[in-house]
Formats: sequence, structure tokens, C-alpha cells
Amino acid sequence: MTLPVLDIHLTEHDAAAALRADVLSGLTANPKSLPPKWFYDERGSELFEKITELPEYYPTGAEREVLTQVAGEIAATTGAETMVELGSGSSAKTRLLLDALRANHTLHRFVPLDVSAAALVQSTAALAEDYPGLEVRGVVGDFTRHLGRLPVGGRRLVAFLGGTIGNLLPAERADFFADIRAALEPGEWLLLGTDLVKDPDTLVRAYDDSQGVTADFNRNVLRVLNRELDADFEVDAFEHVAVWDEDWEWIEMRLRATKPMSVRVDALDLEVKFDAGEEMRTEVSAKFRQSGVRRELAAAGFDLRKWWTDPAGRFGVSLARA
Ligand code: AVJ
Repeated sequence: MTLPVLDIHLTEHDAAAALRADVLSGLTANPKSLPPKWFYDERGSELFEKITELPEYYPTGAEREVLTQVAGEIAATTGAETMVELGSGSSAKTRLLLDALRANHTLHRFVPLDVSAAALVQSTAALAEDYPGLEVRGVVGDFTRHLGRLPVGGRRLVAFLGGTIGNLLPAERADFFADIRAALEPGEWLLLGTDLVKDPDTLVRAYDDSQGVTADFNRNVLRVLNRELDADFEVDAFEHVAVWDEDWEWIEMRLRATKPMSVRVDALDLEVKFDAGEEMRTEVSAKFRQSGVRRELAAAGFDLRKWWTDPAGRFGVSLARA
């Protein structure tokens, strides 16, 4: 077995500094906000896993339906020798793609990029064991900052699945697509998963489930701040809110203060006041249409070559050529 290699471009010290900067700017802004990337400590990652198994949360299953159908076509079209996966590289979907590329006899190398070194150590070890002969090279990094550090060579396919692109605001998305394009050579590929615009009821229920798992996931960001920044948020005094913004075509998650509160964030030497009913944005999850995906990719220099959805038309998968 070839042992996995990890390239480290992001240390725990960098992550701690980024958290402090994000929280300072978010909590002193008006309206207040926090970026969604801080949901995912161990508990938050477990809660997200539970979300993907909820009856109301359709994106994971819908994307899996698409990839099950088209993985072979992705392998045949791209002939990829290297698959890069931005974000978690351990999922069932990763394996669907690796299996198809392996069956196509082109795959040499898998490069998962993730912010968590611990997650990468686990996933790369398991993959190296299950895919003998595959070179597995994990990159510890932030997909909005370290795309320039991806290993080069070996006709690459960059996969960004799950609809996580929807967490970026439109201007951030444009920069992100441009950065991916800049990291690729002409003729290399991007595989992108996007949740699609649909009736608001279905969307809101996916982000406000009946068991309250998403509510717990949303409030988890406050637990992260309490632990990492010595804050004293009264977690249960914040209500989960999920709303569909029809102008921006995104779901917005917020935390609403149920009473006036004053919160200390000791690590930032900061005191933050909340009015009763005040809402703080914690996530946007943008929903897409094929026309918009094509336009945004084209603006970054990608040509949308294939577009698939699940039979119910809930989730889109794009294959674009640099
Ligand atoms: C992991 C970003 C794709 O936006 O649907 C799930 C996160 N938030 N439920 C999404 C999430 C609330 C998820 N992504």
C-alpha cells in the first residue's frame, strides 16, 4: 500500500486566527452575522451527517442519484488521472467517482483538500487501503485560499460537491470560480454540485426540519464560540430561523435572540448586545438554475459541457471544461 502524504498549508494557529477575525467583524457589524464555516467542529460535523439523513433534506440523496447515473460518463468524458476533491473526501459520493475513474483505467491520484487535518488523516488512510495503487495526497487548506497550492500535472478533475458553493455570496463565488480556473490548465475539468431553485415550502422544510436537527446544527456555532473564544452565549436563548429570500434565491439561516442579552467574548475582549428578537445571519445557501450556473462558469473561463439533474429536478451536477 502506498502511504498517504499530507501537505499542510493551514495550521491550527491559522484557523484560530481566522475564527477570531471572522467573529470580530461579524459580531460588530450591523446586522450581525457569522460565516457558516464555523459550524463544523466534531459535534457540528456529526449534526450535519444527521441532517443528510433527514427525510426533509433532499440534496445529499438527490446528488447521489445523479452521480450514480453519470459517474461512468464523467470518467469517460474527462479521462481524469487526478481527482481533486474540495471539502470532505471521505463520502460515498467520492467513492462513486473514484470507482468510475478506476474502471476507466485513467486514475492515478486522489487529492482531497480539507481544513481539517484530523479528517484528512482518517479519510486518506481508509482510501489508500481501499484503493491499492492509488496515490493519495491530502492537502490541509481552505478552498477559498489554497487552490494555487494544488499539485499540478496528470489531467485533473476538481470536484466540488454537495452544494457547498451555495454558502458563498455571489462576489465570493465569482472569485472562487476564477481561482479554480487559474489553478487549472486548459482542458482540465470542474465537477460542480448545485442545489436548484424549487418551491419555497420544500426549501424551507429542508432547512427547518421537524426533528430540530438543523436548529441544533445552527446553534452549534454558538457552542464553538463559547469553547474556542471563551464566550458566554446562552445557546438555548437563540431560536433557529430559516427563510427563503426570493430576490437572491437563497435560504438564509439565522439565530434570533429571544430576549435582550449581553454576551462576553473574552478572547476578543468584546461585549456584544442583542435586542430581543434580533436576528443574526449564520448561513446563506444559494439555490441555482442552469442558466445562472452556465453564466457564472463562463465568466470565469469555464465551458459548461454537461448538465445533469436527478429525475425530480431537485439538484444539478455540472461538468465544465477549463
Ligand atoms: C453543506 C453547505 C451544502 O447549505 O445545504 C445543511 C449546509 N445547512 N443544513 C447546505 C446545511 C443547513 C449545507 N451545505
